[in-house]
Amino acid sequence: MERGNRRPSIRPDIARVEEYVPGESLDAFSARTGVPVERLIKLNSNESPYPPSPRVAAALGVFTAYNLYPDPDGHTLSDDLARYTGVAPCHLVFSNGSNELIAQLWRVFLGPGDSVLTCSPTFSLYTTATTLAGAELIAVPRRDDYEIDLPAVLGALRDDTRVIVLCSPNNPTGNLLARADLDALLATGRLVVVDEAYIEFAGDDALAHSPIQHVPDHDNLVVLRTFSKWAGLAGLRLGYGAFPTWIVPHVRKLQLPFEVNLAAHIAARETLADLPYLRRRIAELVAERDHLAAILAEQPYLRVFPSRGNFVLAEITDPRLSVAAFRVRMESTGIILRYFRTPDLARHVRLTVGTAADTDALARVLAGLRDDLNVSGVPATAERAVEPVH
Ligand SMILES: Cc1ncc(COP(=O)(O)O)c(C=O)c1O
Repeated sequence: MERGNRRPSIRPDIARVEEYVPGESLDAFSARTGVPVERLIKLNSNESPYPPSPRVAAALGVFTAYNLYPDPDGHTLSDDLARYTGVAPCHLVFSNGSNELIAQLWRVFLGPGDSVLTCSPTFSLYTTATTLAGAELIAVPRRDDYEIDLPAVLGALRDDTRVIVLCSPNNPTGNLLARADLDALLATGRLVVVDEAYIEFAGDDALAHSPIQHVPDHDNLVVLRTFSKWAGLAGLRLGYGAFPTWIVPHVRKLQLPFEVNLAAHIAARETLADLPYLRRRIAELVAERDHLAAILAEQPYLRVFPSRGNFVLAEITDPRLSVAAFRVRMESTGIILRYFRTPDLARHVRLTVGTAADTDALARVLAGLRDDLNVSGVPATAERAVEPVH
């Protein structure tokens, strides 16, 4: 029999999908730039700079039953999370990070010939998930202040639009979805998905009035959340969503058995048992966000957008400063930020809120750039220029 090296063909719809490019890891960045890992300041993926509650490591260390599968229904965690969210366990579904829940939900509702509507700029995974489901993404540009353009959204809806997805606070622009806009979208009868990955940073009022409490009253409202950001558990992967009960079994059918690992279950329960610690951390990050925004606003070459998340978006407005030059200066000093490929954000940069020391280090580099622009009109080219890959 011929042992040719012909490869079986990939499904054309999968071959066409553009890979989601996450923020670069410390090791990958260090390998690319030569800056040692211990000198890096990672502000590109909206992770918490703080460890999780100390109860997490303690509980994971003493637990002994890792040889057993986790409870597939996560009963105890559901009860704890119901107390935290105010939503009954019958509405809650866990996942291996909320990214997975997005992909699963998309597969429940979308296939070839269907469309999803979102308001750009926003989290780029919605595009990836939509193309993976074989559907089409309709991206309606936000207004100049990044609020959603409701008349444009309503005008762009098509008969085949089955899902509307909005992120609140929106990554990367930082603003909340207005309640009146949400109500108008719900009235369209489409499934409305609100991604609240960053809601814990938006203030007590926003958390108390989150649409998650209204999920039981609507057949077409889903709210997604994660422990990755506020709880410092990005590496352990735990997301969840609040769904109308009629959707719950369908999402769960798309999950493989034991979707969420036991360590993540334990970590989430310990987090929910230590909310005062988490609230202190959140308060520190919110204060640091405002400090960071103030530092950025002092730079005459930047425009800063107000943020309710743990990140700040800034636009490089001085035409003498290219994004590449800004990036090289940041990267040669070990500061990793998030840049964008899409034309609407071509001159923008997103900065995750880190520790006070991270902001101080960033402030020094920003001041150096400002001085260069004042003295010579252009930034001094970094000697160790790096070639940004994304
Ligand atoms: C808006 C938004 N939703 C979801 C996620 C993914 O969260 P998780 O770590 O739970 O998959 C992110 C992560 O950056 C995000 O920005």
